[in-house]
Amino acid sequence: MNYKESLKNPVFKIISQSAKELQLDAFVIGGFVRDFILKRGDAKDIDIVAIGDGIKLAKQVAKNLPTNPKVQVFKTYGTAMLRFDDIEIEFVGARKESYTEDSRNPSVENGSLEDDQNRRDFTINALALSLNADNFGDLLDPFDGVADLKNKIIKTPLNPDITFSDDPLRMLRAIRFATQLDFTIEAKSLEAISTNCDRIKIITNERIVTELHKIIESKIPSKGFLLLEKTGLLQYILPELTALKGIDEVEGQTHKDNFYHTLEVVDNISKNTNDLWLRWAALLHDLGKAPTKKFSKKVGWTFHGHEFEGSKMVYRLFKRLKMPLNDKMKFVQKMVFMSSRPIVLADDIATDSAVRRLVFDAGDYVEDLMTLCEADITTKNPNKFSKYHNNFKIVREKIIEVEARDHVRNFQPPVSGEEIMKAFNLKPSREIGIIKETIKEAILEGDIPNEYDAAYQLMLKKGKALGLTINSES
Ligand code: CTP
Repeated sequence: MNYKESLKNPVFKIISQSAKELQLDAFVIGGFVRDFILKRGDAKDIDIVAIGDGIKLAKQVAKNLPTNPKVQVFKTYGTAMLRFDDIEIEFVGARKESYTEDSRNPSVENGSLEDDQNRRDFTINALALSLNADNFGDLLDPFDGVADLKNKIIKTPLNPDITFSDDPLRMLRAIRFATQLDFTIEAKSLEAISTNCDRIKIITNERIVTELHKIIESKIPSKGFLLLEKTGLLQYILPELTALKGIDEVEGQTHKDNFYHTLEVVDNISKNTNDLWLRWAALLHDLGKAPTKKFSKKVGWTFHGHEFEGSKMVYRLFKRLKMPLNDKMKFVQKMVFMSSRPIVLADDIATDSAVRRLVFDAGDYVEDLMTLCEADITTKNPNKFSKYHNNFKIVREKIIEVEARDHVRNFQPPVSGEEIMKAFNLKPSREIGIIKETIKEAILEGDIPNEYDAAYQLMLKKGKALGLTINSES
């Protein structure tokens, strides 16, 4: 492979020149080299390691670049960052690094390139390309990372116990890379994750969530969640999911294993959407099933109210993991809360009014909800499978039809409360609510169209029935 190909951007020559001026060696390292070999497209992040002062090199590069970019310095980590075009370039001095037991803050000691490569997470992330004039573009690969890339293997450069105790997040990164790249984690490294899994507790939630997002955004997210479960990490990160594991049996009656079902749903939805939050919704859609599970002789296993319970758990889970408690969280909550609604419609041919109610309740989320519920069909009975899918197809068509006719998606009452007050000379009172509800119900049922005149007539009729007198001036 011609590695020089990856260094065509003029910025590399400028870094090379700048390093020469400071009389130090510099290398491109990590993800950039890995992704070039894997042909994963143009990298937007470049990591540079300097054998010497990385911050000084960053400043020299900034001086030599025609754009004279600002250098952002992170003193605690001894790193510096600058932007060139749309690329972020990070500089660090090579370090012999050891992390203290209970924090991520490294104690820093200058080191050689080999020292630096030793302390990286995986062999495939320890590849370096020289930027020095005498061997520009040469690959430095002390752990045979190229072979691991070829054989699709995730492996730590040192004894995995050391690599993982340096930064326990790497256990999660191993699983993330295995999922993202469809690689296998080498046996010893995998075993070390199981042994050290409780160390994940010292990692901040923000860093954990970044990796979880990447697992969820992968082509087959279940691969990552199965590994998380197998190694024991999942119970520390998402105990709500491990709680879904298992099949209970009482009097010969069983229920499905909701953990494996959930993973199937996530894989299914990932074929149809790249939306991170819709994928999260699939992952969390059955959370409420663990705390609501009950057995009764009469009806067997039930999970009554699991959607409501699950939507409350979504809030607590987002809060615990320090994920944003914003409209994304509300979206996931709503998806979970409504996740059983469409399946009722799939049993039979849905009526217009049932579809209208679905659109009314789901609003702009109705298509996403349908995508979730289609993914939720994991029955192994081929007849049921095609029946549900066909019925959902009809529901989707009806959603379009009903919406074009009735506009209930973001329902605005056709007659306002003020108009009702004026019509009957009322002060704010209970009757206004009753009339509004009657109009809304009549529209959703299809008794009247969603139009002003029809709604006004119904208002008059309902007012009369409530014993109200019409204001002659209205
Ligand atoms: N690295 C490490 N240990 C970590 C994080 C990062 O050793 N816990 C090293 C690896 O050599 C990695 C490089 O730092 O390649 C850059 O890290 P990062 O930008 O987080 O990841 P990338 O490997 O670039 O991959 P991605 O962009 O997919 O996150």
